[in-house]
Amino acid sequence: METVTTAVEARAIVKKWKNEGKTVGFVPTMGYLHEGHMSLVQKAAEQNEKVVLSIFVNPMQFSPNEDLDKYPRDFDADSKLCEDNGVDLIIYPDPKEMYPEGFCSFVDMTGPTRELCGKSRPIHFRGVCTVVTKLFNIVQPDRAYFGQKDAQQLSVIRRMVTDLNMPIEIVGCPIVREKDGLAKSSRNQYLSEEERKAALILSKSVFVGQELVKKGERNAKVVCDAIREIITSEPLAKIDYVEAVDFDTIEKIDKLQGTILVAIAVYIGSTRLIDNFIDTV
Ligand code: PAJ
Repeated sequence: METVTTAVEARAIVKKWKNEGKTVGFVPTMGYLHEGHMSLVQKAAEQNEKVVLSIFVNPMQFSPNEDLDKYPRDFDADSKLCEDNGVDLIIYPDPKEMYPEGFCSFVDMTGPTRELCGKSRPIHFRGVCTVVTKLFNIVQPDRAYFGQKDAQQLSVIRRMVTDLNMPIEIVGCPIVREKDGLAKSSRNQYLSEEERKAALILSKSVFVGQELVKKGERNAKVVCDAIREIITSEPLAKIDYVEAVDFDTIEKIDKLQGTILVAIAVYIGSTRLIDNFIDTV
């Protein structure tokens, strides 16, 4: 496994592989890796001859009041996990490499970035789309892997790749959870012991909503209200949003039809966590 910090070095390595006719799978991350990230790596290793993973805590996708400075980082642990899981190349740039002086080009989407996290984090997806485009241009992978944990992000990236004719297959991967149900997240480590227990209310409420849909409920309000009621029963939890949307367009829906995404964002203390389910009905 190799680690590089510049786009030029990464390009040279990937170019060599491409010249040898090898396929390349790419997993963009912000590091502090866990089994959720590794499930993407494993999928990439199954489907491609070479696997590239990037670690970059992207300042552009954080608002000034968010957790950029305290976002957890542990390169040595990340590197070991990558080595053990078959990553061939880590790209580990610093902000100056990604955004040199004078940087002023952005990928700004409308459509699926408007609702859900786009509402409570107005500049978030502009940062995500810009950095993912840059990373795609650096790596030029055959396939790129994104988790359903960030379902809106997955939908947004699919749309972006279609709209901008990027020749990359986007592969979505299921949510990896802790044994008790909490979706794995680098941000879970912000939680105190008491908050960690309270955070279970996210997966609990999502599972109830999912079960309702499975049993035939097609009224979005009924499903979202059931989820809200469960979350509200937890004193440490504060709802940011609970919404049902069409998964492809991220537009709000009243009737559950087609491929639907029911997504929630909840503050546990000061930590904002997300969870969701997708179903085709
Ligand atoms: P990050 O939060 O590090 O996540 C990297 C990838 O891992 C994302 O595609 C995310 O959905 C996936 N992931 C995280 N937790 C997961 C879990 N429990 N189960 C399955 N997949 C999981 O998402 C980002 O970074 C950034 O926005 C990025 C795309 C790298 C752009 O900066």
